[in-house]
Amino acid sequence: MRSNRFRLTPTLCRRFATYVLDWYTQYGRKNLPWQQGSTPYKVWISEVMLQQTTVATVITYFPSFMQRFPDIDSLAAALEDDVLAMWSGLGYYRRARFIHSAAQRMVAEYQSGMPNDLASLMALPGIGRSTAGAIISLGYKERATILDGNVKRVLTRYLAYAEDVSKSAAMSELWQYAEQLTPVQDSNHYNQAMMDIGATVCTKSQPQCYECPLSASCKAHKQANPHAYPVKKQPSK
Ligand code: ADE
Repeated sequence: MRSNRFRLTPTLCRRFATYVLDWYTQYGRKNLPWQQGSTPYKVWISEVMLQQTTVATVITYFPSFMQRFPDIDSLAAALEDDVLAMWSGLGYYRRARFIHSAAQRMVAEYQSGMPNDLASLMALPGIGRSTAGAIISLGYKERATILDGNVKRVLTRYLAYAEDVSKSAAMSELWQYAEQLTPVQDSNHYNQAMMDIGATVCTKSQPQCYECPLSASCKAHKQANPHAYPVKKQPSK
């Protein structure tokens, strides 16, 4: 049984998801290169690229990477130097080494397929909990929760969440909130919209609250203090 301490009411969760999904219909990004004929493989590669790189930059690198390595087998069979060369410009090269070795493990352990459950995905190099959730929801179209930096900002502001998010206890609590808010239906659209709201509306330095679908019930907005969240006492890694 889930303890009551971190429970949000079903009504709040339903309303929250409805606002987010309605916003997605109108404003959500639907034409990103990795959304065209989306597959778990495309979602995986794009999500790893997007971990530390902006959408605008990833858009310019993703198509050529896909052309050179259209599937798990071609990526696994490549020389590491060739993978690094196709990554060049994206930076944080550890990510390229991770996807290369993850692809080799998919060939060896999953008959060149991708696992579709959270634990197996998270056991692969370079795939954390949020990236695994993105692969399951955006790639496999099954319900899963994400909590990347953008979503963390939206949620901590909405809840006026005052705990220090550099503490793992706070992150575990936020994951519980994020999971409750994720709708059963259309979690792929909901997750895409949450990332888009975080990236374009609920931005770090200039939140556009007057454009936000959540502002009417957002606690940080009510406090007129969105900049106070997320609370981070230690500098992030
Ligand atoms: N950042 C991480 N994943 C993303 C996605 N799928 N769309 C936009 N921004 C993102």
